[in-house]
Amino acid sequence: SNAPLDVDARLLQICQLLETRVDYYNWVGFYFKNGDRNELKLGPYVGAPTDHTIIPFGKGICGQVAVSNQNFVVPDVAAQDNYIACSITVKAEIVIPIFVNGENVGQIDIDSNTPDPFTEADERFLEFVCAEVAKIL
Ligand code: SME
Repeated sequence: SNAPLDVDARLLQICQLLETRVDYYNWVGFYFKNGDRNELKLGPYVGAPTDHTIIPFGKGICGQVAVSNQNFVVPDVAAQDNYIACSITVKAEIVIPIFVNGENVGQIDIDSNTPDPFTEADERFLEFVCAEVAKIL
């Protein structure tokens, strides 16, 4: 089994790899359900620091995915009314849930400074990444 610090180091490496290798992935981070609270807590990430280290379920794109258990692809963040802005440079966002034994335990969140960059290929790729992440939690 993996100690918590090992898991966070691995998650940070995944963030770094994704942000480095995909030019339209400009902020990459993990949020996880915070114990039995109805909120998400920010985990490892790369990109600009965010004030949004805790997100209540239902709030923003991330909080909506915490309750919907579905991928959420946002081609234009300006068109979303339930959106939490972290940086004015962000144009688009994708959030993919992470399932362990069928339970939504958290998510990968990626912001892009490019408008409408995410395709179904990103969804399939990031679902694979999340399935691999689920194995190390
Ligand atoms: N934009 C997200 C908040 C997290 S930042 O992207 C890092 C949202 O609306 O949930």
